[in-house]
Amino acid sequence: MAKMMHAHQYSKYHGGPSALEYVEVPVPTPKKGDMLVKVEASSVNIVDWRIQDGLLKYVLPRKFPHIPGTDISGEVVSVGSGVEGFAPGDKILSWIDLLRGGGFAEYALAPVTSTVKRPPSISAVDAASLPVAAMTALQSAVHLIGLKLDGSGPKLNILITAASGGVGIFWTQARSSFSSTPDLSRTVRQGVFEEYRIAKLCGCFVTATCGARNMELVRSLGADEVLDYKTPEGASFKSPSGKKYDVVVQLAPYRPLEAFKAQLTKRGTVVDMTPTLRTVLRNWYNKITFSKQSFLPFVLDAKNTTDLQSVTDLVEQGKLKVIVDSTFPLAKAPDAWARSIEGHSTGKVVLIV
Ligand SMILES: NC(=O)c1ccc[n+]([C@@H]2O[C@H](COP(=O)([O-])OP(=O)(O)OC[C@H]3O[C@@H](n4cnc5c(N)ncnc54)[C@H](OP(=O)(O)O)[C@@H]3O)[C@@H](O)[C@H]2O)c1
Repeated sequence: MAKMMHAHQYSKYHGGPSALEYVEVPVPTPKKGDMLVKVEASSVNIVDWRIQDGLLKYVLPRKFPHIPGTDISGEVVSVGSGVEGFAPGDKILSWIDLLRGGGFAEYALAPVTSTVKRPPSISAVDAASLPVAAMTALQSAVHLIGLKLDGSGPKLNILITAASGGVGIFWTQARSSFSSTPDLSRTVRQGVFEEYRIAKLCGCFVTATCGARNMELVRSLGADEVLDYKTPEGASFKSPSGKKYDVVVQLAPYRPLEAFKAQLTKRGTVVDMTPTLRTVLRNWYNKITFSKQSFLPFVLDAKNTTDLQSVTDLVEQGKLKVIVDSTFPLAKAPDAWARSIEGHSTGKVVLIV
């Protein structure tokens, strides 16, 4: 008889947290390129519940019932054919393909193409927080905007909106960790957020928006200026020191380009983290009207072990800190789902399995 496991699944679009059913289903069998993993922690991302809400209706999920969850950490139980470099007993973190999901369960299949080993110094909860959120920060900072891990990239004035959220907490540090100069960090090292000073030497300058309750945290993560988004100054994104932004990392709920225009440099860019057709159309419109300001869509390439390894290394080296909003046992996955949907988490929402 097949070995059974607990999991949370949903069987139709919509319905929110109450549509998640706690069920017993067979433990999956690893196919070519997969590892069977005993899940220790699984984090929630906005895209998980937006897919349940019909974001990609008729495309995702591929079939019902669907076990959501893509960001996991755990221990390898067995490996399928073609898997090299991993063995039973290895601690790992992985991004499971959105097409497949399966993270809200006691066991999941992790593709070898998006899995890295978890160093002992990183907890299971912190590791599960990394794949989507930290890679989004890394990829938009490095691959899209062109910041360099060795500090040799451009020195930009950056506005990060919703700096207290799951992605924002990493981005706010990206200013220091992703653009710091390792040699200098040794000479100026003092305290947990020592890289903060390095970013100053590199010339990066970050203005961040968040709610009043998180301003101190966001400042401690490395932001130079913090605006409460519920104040008039925060709503207008006006830098207290009068700086114009080269880049706006737009993590907060959608605002049109016009909302940032006055605070952008002439060649400023707004990176839209929730791109839709309107982002593409707006970008096209800017081009035909010869506007030098741009509105760029960002889409994560999560099947990327190089970047997953990079963020894991940064956490292991103490350069990137994970902020966990809340943890829930697997049986309480609907509460974790609800917490993410509310949109008020400070850092990541994580299931402990
Ligand atoms: N393109 C991609 O590939 C990709 C990948 C990952 C994420 N994303 C997107 O990135 C965005 C951020 O995701 P996330 O996981 O970081 O979100 P999140 O964790 O849900 O963000 C919650 C935080 O946002 C703050 N917030 C809410 N409204 C705000 C506003 N108007 N101004 C400033 N702060 C505000 C909240 O503060 P209060 O509690 O004080 O209100 C809370 O701390 C989402 O739109 C997500 O879909 C895109």
